[in-house]
Amino acid sequence: MMQPIWLLLLLIGLFHLSHQATNTWVWRCNQEVCVRQHSNKNSIQTNVFRSIEECRLVCGADGSIWPLPSVKFNKSSKLLDINPNEITFELVGSDPVKEILEENVKIFKKNILSECRGACGSDGEALNIKVIVNSTDVSLNWETDESYELKSNNLFWKINAATVFGARHGLESLSQLIAAYNAQDKIGLVTVANVHIVDKPFYKHRSLMIDTGRNFLTVETIKRQIDAMASSKLNILHWHITDSQSFPYVSVRVPNLSRFGSFSENQVYNPQDIKELRDYAKIRGIRILMEIDAPSHAGNGWQWGPHKALGNLSVCVNKQPWRYNCIQPPCGQLNPANIQVYNVLNALYKDIVEQFPESEFFHMGGDEVYFPCWNSTPEIVNYMKQQGKGQNKGDLLDLWGEFQENALAAYDSAVGNSDTKILLWSSELTNPEAIEKYLDKNRYIIETWVPSYDPLPQSLLEKGYKLVISTKNAWYLDHGFWGNTKYYTWRNVYENRLINHRNVIGGEVCMWGELVNGDAIDSRVWPRAAAAAERLWSNSYATTKQVEARMYRHRERLISRGIAAEALTPFWCYQNEGQCL
Ligand SMILES: *[C@@H]1O[C@H](CO)[C@@H](O)[C@H](O)[C@H]1NC(C)=O
Ligand SMILES: *[C@@H]1O[C@H](CO)[C@@H](O)[C@H](O)[C@H]1NC(C)=O
Ligand SMILES: *[C@@H]1O[C@H](CO)[C@@H](O)[C@H](O)[C@H]1NC(C)=O
Ligand SMILES: *[C@@H]1O[C@H](CO)[C@@H](O)[C@H](O)[C@H]1NC(C)=O
Repeated sequence: MMQPIWLLLLLIGLFHLSHQATNTWVWRCNQEVCVRQHSNKNSIQTNVFRSIEECRLVCGADGSIWPLPSVKFNKSSKLLDINPNEITFELVGSDPVKEILEENVKIFKKNILSECRGACGSDGEALNIKVIVNSTDVSLNWETDESYELKSNNLFWKINAATVFGARHGLESLSQLIAAYNAQDKIGLVTVANVHIVDKPFYKHRSLMIDTGRNFLTVETIKRQIDAMASSKLNILHWHITDSQSFPYVSVRVPNLSRFGSFSENQVYNPQDIKELRDYAKIRGIRILMEIDAPSHAGNGWQWGPHKALGNLSVCVNKQPWRYNCIQPPCGQLNPANIQVYNVLNALYKDIVEQFPESEFFHMGGDEVYFPCWNSTPEIVNYMKQQGKGQNKGDLLDLWGEFQENALAAYDSAVGNSDTKILLWSSELTNPEAIEKYLDKNRYIIETWVPSYDPLPQSLLEKGYKLVISTKNAWYLDHGFWGNTKYYTWRNVYENRLINHRNVIGGEVCMWGELVNGDAIDSRVWPRAAAAAERLWSNSYATTKQVEARMYRHRERLISRGIAAEALTPFWCYQNEGQCL
């Protein structure tokens, strides 16, 4: 038998524990740092924040918006509890603008409710948000004005933007000015009473590359990447959709490409999938940049030519031993000696052009042609002989240049003009000594993927080429998982500054798909890609030490929004800012 006195003490202890569990900690803002301390139930504490997220909203000049507003960010330290059920919107804009705004209002509401995991209480004030968009133009391209102004006066908020996509960024920032608190068994939302933000991106090209040639990604998985991009104000999803391993893109005009090239009937992208993703992305201010890599990185999917009397469209397909025929298994390269290749490309490009009628750009890949493959293919060697050419590197480069010229003509014929900007990976064809012979600087934009110490980008800029920079030793997010490469932390990603030159139109983080599929991609990409997003949007001079707390906060935000972003630090360090530097 337990003595009554012990029973009583046990009950008191249990009561105490259960009560404490709801709200053990509160935070104080001390010299721009949120400091954790025990909450004291028995006395009213003043000047404390009910969650780290609430503290982060106002503690320090930079608050919690990621990427940091680039022109002006002024805010009060006053907070207001708000009722998520009583947020009203006034949308000012013409019809196509309004539709996109309405979609973004839904996204906004979903995002703020995610802060309290759907368990927000309804205490607090009603909020009124007015969004004014000047332009009726809803086209999205490099010239789109993405700027916005956001102002709040207690319960009245106003977003002003030239375009609907600027307004979208404004709503994104506003959602990041709202956080959850947790106090006395109550969970609710809180915002900053007075804010003035003027904001616009530093670079107009801010992209993430995904690769569905090596491992398939479902439409849902790609949508999650788009959600996370929108949360971080990235604006271009570069889709390396095919590779020598598989051809999951369903071409209406050339169905054999995916029939022979996909991993299975289910692992394909139908025209409806492409359209769905295109529209999903656009609402979020994101364009899809399609890439069909050629002439290398093309094999599976191209094998059916001989049966259709089109000859060999590709050569060295799945050839072994692969090390003698390509850089990575399975081998495969398009056959530049077969004129039919360009007809098939033309038909394929027509499908893509129809799906992206507004597109001002297209990515033709163009990396890593492996000359020994072409050189060991009799029909290619004979083709070169007929032109009086040999098998030396210069002649092979000419052949590659000829392929590129014909592929461009196939594209131009598909689209009906010669205006589309073509992106190409840097390669032997883009070497400073060779490039001007093969690639017109008014048509081609070069995506360099060399390490930061490599002089290539600078040389190409001096020759007048426009660049998208994907710094290999910082923005290749797959590195550290194969070969002798290093894993680049979010700090490495953040610290990567691009060359400051008007012809650097932006940069890209790349997630190659050899060692990642839908089960792991969220954590491989996020939140590291967000570190690049701030570099591209704000290009601030801040150190990673200065932005660390805000970055950790953004990681938690991505988690709330359903992105399985990796942990950057023990949770204790998130709760105890500046203690783990
Ligand atoms: C920002 O706000 C502070 C204090 O509210 C004010 O002194 C300052 O002038 C403002 N800055 C700008 C650029 O408006
Ligand atoms: C919207 O148009 C008005 C009137 O032309 C102009 O004063 C204002 O600056 C414009 N706002 C934006 C954000 O472009
Ligand atoms: C696809 O390939 C098969 C087998 O090689 C061929 O019989 C068929 O005609 C091709 N279909 C089309 C639409 O080209
Ligand atoms: C096509 O490739 C096959 C297999 O490598 C080869 O036997 C054939 O001769 C090639 N066709 C031509 C026209 O060269």
